[in-house]
Amino acid sequence: MRRRVAHCLFVLFVAVATGYPSRRSAVDLDATPRTTIIYNELSDIPRFSGHALNYTTLLLEDEKGILYVGARGAIFSLNSSNIADGSQRKIQWEASPEKQKDCLQKGKNNKTECFNHVRLLQRLNSTHLYACGTYAFHPLCAAIDADKFTLPLHLEEGRERCPYDPARGYTGLIVDGGLYTATRYEFRSLPDIRRNLHQRPLKTEESPVHWLNDAEFVASVLVRESVGSPAGDDDKIYYFFMEQAGEEGASFGQTQVARVARVCKNDLGGKKILQRKWTSFLKARLACYIPYYEVLKGVYSLDGGSWPSTVFYATFTLSAQWRSMEASAVCQYNISELQRAFDGPYMEYQDTTRKWTRYDGDVPDPRPGSCITDRFRENGYNSSQDLPNNVLDFVKQRPLMFEEVKPVRGEPLLVKKNVLYTALVADRVPALDGQQYNVLFLGTGDGWLHKGVVVGSVVHIVEEMQVFRAPQPVETLVVSKAQRSIYVGAASGVLQLPLASCARYTTCYDCILARDPYCAWDGKGCREVAGAADRTRLTQDVQHGTDGCWNSSAQAPPTQRNRTALQGDDVLLTCNQRSNLARAAWLLNGTVELAEGQGPFRVGVDGLLVMNALPEHSGQYRCYGEESGLRSLMATYALTVLPEQPKESRAMAPSHSPQQATADGKFIYISVITVLGGLCLVLGVVLFYVACLQRRKGRYVLGDPRIVELQTVSANHPGKGQDDGCLQIIPGEAPTAASLARETPLAVPPPPPPPLPAEFTNGLSTLPSTLRKMNGARYVLLQQQEEPSASSLHNASFAQELSKILEKRKHTQLVEKLDESSV
Ligand SMILES: *[C@@H]1O[C@H](CO)[C@@H](O)[C@H](O)[C@H]1NC(C)=O
Ligand SMILES: *[C@@H]1O[C@H](CO)[C@@H](O)[C@H](O)[C@H]1NC(C)=O
Ligand SMILES: *[C@@H]1O[C@H](CO)[C@@H](O)[C@H](O)[C@H]1NC(C)=O
Ligand SMILES: *[C@@H]1O[C@H](CO)[C@@H](O)[C@H](O)[C@H]1NC(C)=O
Ligand SMILES: *[C@@H]1O[C@H](CO)[C@@H](O)[C@H](O)[C@H]1NC(C)=O
Ligand SMILES: *[C@@H]1O[C@H](CO)[C@@H](O)[C@H](O)[C@H]1NC(C)=O
Ligand SMILES: *[C@@H]1O[C@H](CO)[C@@H](O)[C@H](O)[C@H]1NC(C)=O
Ligand SMILES: *[C@@H]1O[C@H](CO)[C@@H](O)[C@H](O)[C@H]1NC(C)=O
Ligand SMILES: *[C@@H]1O[C@H](CO)[C@@H](O)[C@H](O)[C@H]1NC(C)=O
Repeated sequence: MRRRVAHCLFVLFVAVATGYPSRRSAVDLDATPRTTIIYNELSDIPRFSGHALNYTTLLLEDEKGILYVGARGAIFSLNSSNIADGSQRKIQWEASPEKQKDCLQKGKNNKTECFNHVRLLQRLNSTHLYACGTYAFHPLCAAIDADKFTLPLHLEEGRERCPYDPARGYTGLIVDGGLYTATRYEFRSLPDIRRNLHQRPLKTEESPVHWLNDAEFVASVLVRESVGSPAGDDDKIYYFFMEQAGEEGASFGQTQVARVARVCKNDLGGKKILQRKWTSFLKARLACYIPYYEVLKGVYSLDGGSWPSTVFYATFTLSAQWRSMEASAVCQYNISELQRAFDGPYMEYQDTTRKWTRYDGDVPDPRPGSCITDRFRENGYNSSQDLPNNVLDFVKQRPLMFEEVKPVRGEPLLVKKNVLYTALVADRVPALDGQQYNVLFLGTGDGWLHKGVVVGSVVHIVEEMQVFRAPQPVETLVVSKAQRSIYVGAASGVLQLPLASCARYTTCYDCILARDPYCAWDGKGCREVAGAADRTRLTQDVQHGTDGCWNSSAQAPPTQRNRTALQGDDVLLTCNQRSNLARAAWLLNGTVELAEGQGPFRVGVDGLLVMNALPEHSGQYRCYGEESGLRSLMATYALTVLPEQPKESRAMAPSHSPQQATADGKFIYISVITVLGGLCLVLGVVLFYVACLQRRKGRYVLGDPRIVELQTVSANHPGKGQDDGCLQIIPGEAPTAASLARETPLAVPPPPPPPLPAEFTNGLSTLPSTLRKMNGARYVLLQQQEEPSASSLHNASFAQELSKILEKRKHTQLVEKLDESSV
């Protein structure tokens, strides 16, 4: 409930927060994943877990075909072509019992902290890997011979290379033999960016002006800016982190801001000033330009073959005051924008006000915080050690830049409610239209993976996949070009997914509408573009997702299904839209389009309900999926409504005695009233919640009719492909096995209702629903019964009967606009 109130409050706050520099409202940014793939549909993908936990450190060596995995107490070497092929090698590296005992005595958590969490795994040189582990709050590092794959006898002290705390934000890289790490190493120490394994170890300056104010590190990225640089520039390492804001005008009084800092690879420190410290450390604010989305969660860099084309993608979540709700934003930055900020004006710390403000005084030459370039060398500054004192003093005092780093187009690419993106990677994919598209893979806090393609200024989410059954944060993502795979690391294991599963799209329209740049239609099936021998036959439309199926009449129309019902029955003709973006359209007898609420018809998201059917409702019903202006036929039904119930079924009606029947009737009557009363209460709560969400939506989705607001997710029931359920609810009568068996020859017992979510437990244990989060709202998944069998109806308990009535009510209510007044 608190969460819901927070949702409502959020609406108010967003409404109040005006004047923030965003041209487009967050409105059109909330993307619905086009398709939803649940865990059971991913059962055949390779998964690895080897009696350890926390598979969070992944190192892919694509050319060698090896994926190294650092876990809790172990390092694994897996075959990247199939991580589950059984050929794994393992280094057991547990914390020793003495160190564990020490750790417990320090009062650390014996379930999570007093183990050896491998936090760093990098290639050291051609023969060795380098690994660091927390070793029960006593960090150790090791150079591991990659061929032998055993721990060396001599382990190195890891105190200044690896954090003590396994949950502490940490990032580490080995660049040309130097180890660049950033974290708060020990609980009491200050956060620090260090270089080790180098002739000139360096660290960040501490007081008086904090270079790093309570920083929590997220990622580091090497950009080889020396390659082809006309100015003789140096390679740079960029650090992404959160820290306490100290500057004036940090918006809305937030205390934490996202930052990007950079250092130069050939920095050697100063001679007298900034001795053994970075002379090239500069930092700037990283802004995503959407209020409250301030907590940086993941960063990934992508380049198109040369460093000037580098773009960074970053995910942000709501800042701490919105702890109770989940929402994420994705922003894109290009490197020229980062450089612009680092070349701009500086900030200066005012001791009196304890704030950072713009520095407008003189800037010494050479420019403080720069890497050593040809121009420096011409002036006699061969290394950072040659830099004059006034330059080094300046850097020491003013490492913060005045300009913030703005996202591309000054706004986020994507805003997603009810989702916490915890990790991201990107891949650049050449499409058939000659363009390169950036595909983002975003891991969520509850074990899902979203795949989105960046088209212009927005992200189209191609699919969402439930990659872990048990909700857990996706910790690490790695893309392999060679294996065309993505590896996902989390607490319970690692898994390997293909970058694309084009065969999942069975029709041309499905393949084109998906807008997946990896996939194209070749006239017969949806194929991966990269593997295709002959590209000329392929069609694809990543830009709009509409063109390419004009003459693919090869598609076989779905077979007509015949339905027979009795006069007065409620008939549900199911029609599942595979796409969450599709709208169902129904045609009767090929001409009449059935609108919502027209006569006895209710158009639901997964079918058409004909209420109180009459013989004149007989006819041919066609269900179309309408998406991006395209219509494709999904199902055809021939419905025959018989005028009245055949005689023999009456004769075989239940043989209760009349008194018993009336007594039963009364009991049922009273029970129905009681239970419906309860239901009203539940629905009231649900409606309030939905209304609240609706209002929120009102702000974000400005009447885009294509966005399907309520969408049930096809359940994990086995017969999903050929679901031709026809639900008949015949109040007051219990048709016999024989009569119904004739009409619906298939007799499948109904699946048991799934367990009840806690929110609904008020005595109604039969509500057939599970909750799924999608598109900013929670959806009630209605367990649709395939072909309700005679026996099931006959033996149906009162509770089951009731749940069906309820199901029916839900269907009708999905159609009507819900508002509080209807409660
Ligand atoms: C991985 O498996 C593939 C196929 O089984 C095999 O060809 C390859 O040699 C293996 N790679 C390694 C590094 O073991
Ligand atoms: C951890 O400590 C708790 C309480 O001190 C104890 O009950 C539990 O058995 C310990 N677990 C392990 C794995 O040592
Ligand atoms: C790689 O580093 C290890 C550990 O420092 C060292 O023993 C080994 O000789 C190095 N190998 C090469 C080829 O330099
Ligand atoms: C390791 O996995 C356990 C079990 O899922 C989890 O509780 C813990 O938070 C994880 N620790 C880290 C540091 O990720
Ligand atoms: C810088 O290097 C050049 C050529 O290597 C040398 O002539 C010059 O003396 C050096 N300057 C300093 C200040 O070391
Ligand atoms: C970086 O972004 C700006 C707009 O924000 C754009 O004008 C510029 O072309 C971009 N640069 C690159 C290299 O993509
Ligand atoms: C459409 O059909 C015509 C002739 O049947 C063929 O030449 C053309 O290549 C087809 N176009 C596509 C996009 O398949
Ligand atoms: C439905 O009925 C039509 C004609 O009555 C028949 O041709 C068709 O085969 C039937 N379809 C099925 C699936 O039974
Ligand atoms: C549809 O057509 C059938 C015969 O083809 C006719 O019996 C039925 O009344 C028509 N239904 C409607 C609603 O017009």
